[in-house]
Amino acid sequence: MVPVIRHDGEPGEAYAHNRAFWDEVTPVHASSDFYRVDEFRRGASVLHDFVTEEVGDVSGLRLLHLQCHFGLDTLSWARLGAHVTGVDISGASIDRARGLASEFGVPATFLRSNILEMDGQLEGQFDRVFTSFGALCWLGDLKSWGRVIAGALKPGGVFNIIEFHPVMDTLQQLRPINENVDAFPQYPYFGEGVSLRFDPEGDDSDYADPSFSSQESTFEWFHPMSEIVGALIDAGLVIERFREYPFVTYKARQGMVEGEDGLWRLPPGVVPLPLMFSLRAAKPLA
Ligand SMILES: C[S@@+](CC[C@H](N)C(=O)[O-])C[C@H]1O[C@@H](n2cnc3c(N)ncnc32)[C@H](O)[C@@H]1O
Repeated sequence: MVPVIRHDGEPGEAYAHNRAFWDEVTPVHASSDFYRVDEFRRGASVLHDFVTEEVGDVSGLRLLHLQCHFGLDTLSWARLGAHVTGVDISGASIDRARGLASEFGVPATFLRSNILEMDGQLEGQFDRVFTSFGALCWLGDLKSWGRVIAGALKPGGVFNIIEFHPVMDTLQQLRPINENVDAFPQYPYFGEGVSLRFDPEGDDSDYADPSFSSQESTFEWFHPMSEIVGALIDAGLVIERFREYPFVTYKARQGMVEGEDGLWRLPPGVVPLPLMFSLRAAKPLA
C-alpha cells in the first residue's frame, strides 16, 4: 500500500511540493511514448478523438487551457484553429511548452501560475476554458476554481472538462489487490477539503514512464462529484451536459483491459464503475 498521510498544514506547502514534483517529471514525460511528442512533431493533434468530439469545433475561438502541463494538448488545440493560452504551476512545463511552440511555429501564450492565484495575469476573456485528465486532484479549493473559470469566460462562453471520475480516484493505485484486480476502494470519495500526502516508495513508478520514480512527495485532494458540479453552479455557470463513462483512454490502473475501441475498462468480474466524466457548462449571456 502506498503510504498516505493526512495533511492539515497550509495549502501553500502542498502546492510547493506539487510544483517541485511536476518540475521533476516534466522532462521524463516530454520524452515518454505516453505523451506522443513524436506524433506532434509530425504535425498531428495529439488530442484523443473522444476529447475533440466532446469539445467540438474550436477554430477561431480564444481557448484557455488550465493545468496545461508541457502544452501538447494546448498546442494541438492551436493546430485545430484555436487562439490558445495555457497555464500551469510548473516552470519546467511552461518552459517546455514555450519551447515546443517556437520549435513548431505554433502561436500560443503560456503562463506559469497556480491557476487559483492568477490575479489578473490573464489577458481578456475566453470563448472556451478547457481542462482534462488528472487536473482536479491538485486543487484544494474548487469554489475558487469555479470562480476562476467563470471569470475567465466571456458571457456565452463554454467550459469543458474531461476528467477521471472521483469514483476511479478511490481505487487503489499501482498495486493489485489480488493477481487480477486492483479495483478495491481505498482512497476517500468525500475528501472533506483535506489533502493527503503521498510519499515516494522505492518501487512507485510514473504513469508515463514506468522506469522512473520520483523522490518528491505529492499532496492531492479528493473531490466528490457534488463538489465539482456544485463549484460550477455556485460560480454562476449553467451545466448543459454531464456524462459518466465506464472506461478511460489509457491503462490507468493495473488489471484494466483494453477493448476493441481502444478504451480501457475494469476487468471482467468487476462491476463497471464510472471511471471518467465529461461536463459542459456555459456562462450565461447576462
Ligand atoms: C496530469 S497533469 C495535466 C493533465 C493534462 N491533461 C496532461 O495529461 O498532460 C497535471 C498538471 O497540473 C499542473 N498543476 C498541478 N497543480 C496545479 C495548480 N495548482 N495550478 C496550475 N497547475 C497545476 C501540473 O504542473 C501538471 O502539469
